[in-house]
Amino acid sequence: MTFSLTFKHKKGVSEDVKDDSIVLEIKDIARGGSGVSRDASGRVVFVPKTAPGDRVRVRIIEEEKKYAQGELLEILDSSPVRQKPRCPAFGSCGGCTWQHLPYELQWKTKSSGVQHALSRVKIELPSSFEEHPAERIWEYRNRVQLRGEGSRIGFHAAGSRDLVPVNRCDIARPEINSAWETLREEGSRLPKPYKVEVAVEETGAIRKVWNSRHGAAGFRQIHDDQNAKLRNWIANTITSDPQRVLFDLFGGSGNLSLGLAARFAEIHCVDFSAPSVRPEGVPSHFHFHRAGVGEWLARTRNRVFPCAGRSAILDPPREGLADRFSEIEEAICRMNVDELVAVGCDPDAWARDVSRFIRRSWRLKAVALFDFFPQTPHIESAALLVR
Ligand SMILES: C[S@@+](CC[C@H](N)C(=O)[O-])C[C@H]1O[C@@H](n2cnc3c(N)ncnc32)[C@H](O)[C@@H]1O
Repeated sequence: MTFSLTFKHKKGVSEDVKDDSIVLEIKDIARGGSGVSRDASGRVVFVPKTAPGDRVRVRIIEEEKKYAQGELLEILDSSPVRQKPRCPAFGSCGGCTWQHLPYELQWKTKSSGVQHALSRVKIELPSSFEEHPAERIWEYRNRVQLRGEGSRIGFHAAGSRDLVPVNRCDIARPEINSAWETLREEGSRLPKPYKVEVAVEETGAIRKVWNSRHGAAGFRQIHDDQNAKLRNWIANTITSDPQRVLFDLFGGSGNLSLGLAARFAEIHCVDFSAPSVRPEGVPSHFHFHRAGVGEWLARTRNRVFPCAGRSAILDPPREGLADRFSEIEEAICRMNVDELVAVGCDPDAWARDVSRFIRRSWRLKAVALFDFFPQTPHIESAALLVR
């Protein structure tokens, strides 16, 4: 039986109930990306693909005591802030979930999300606080991972492995979109469903890796312009002295430290995927160590380094230092590191690491935020800490 009724809930939001759906007004955007509302009981409801000011019909698909997850069924009144998503696959593709929000709102939400993550762990913003939103908000990704089957090529749907075929990707670099039809044709000759990682090299050439582990070619920041800003910030922030040593931990292939080579006596870049042979042009005082960070620090702790002080860059994966925090913090203190830059792409994990450093008598001197991922809720944060 279908029925409909209207009532006012205690927060004053008018609410229709029709079958198992409810009507909500979206008040805000959560930093995870969903619109935020409250249901009749005052419980927070998160609704993906909505904008502040939308009036929407929603079905509750997951319930916790303090919050619920809603599925958008219908937009009843569209918010004036809403913009037309540029990609026809928006909503079905699992990629960029914020195309319906203007970039200014995307950035404001990300930046205040990081500030909230810091305040939750009781950290005040230092006086040196920089925001670096992106200028290039489309066609920026230098690497994408495509899926395909026969002549269909595209991305996985949100939360599933279903293929969403697309003819281009609006956040991918133009070089990748130019290669799309060739990729489709090459993929259609493969006997089974496939994945292909496509990257634009620094020379502009396209590199394809078929059916390999994700990140087969090693880690690379995906937004080159924003990456340049992060490198500059580090270069301008970190103490530079030709007598000092720099440890670039979780350093990949030296993205954040290669440009600093002339400014340090020695640089040690440690990463599982560091180059096993020093690439041509890299000076001999720049050392790559293809190793686990914890293991390398344990192995190196008694080594003598030239010394007018030591700095470190820590750029761990998404989960931050997590349960390796104490091991790594103690090791870098034993090695007399007195200044470090902590970089992180998950605001909560990063803020937790920063707060743990502060509790162990490090002082927060500067914070900077960088948008490496326009059209998505993700953000990169960096902190300078001194001992
Ligand atoms: C966020 S990326 C940063 C890479 C680099 N800083 C850059 O800007 O390109 C994290 C890196 O941590 C490396 N990694 C993850 N766990 C590691 C571990 N326990 N020991 C060494 N490297 C690790 C990965 O290989 C990856 O290159």
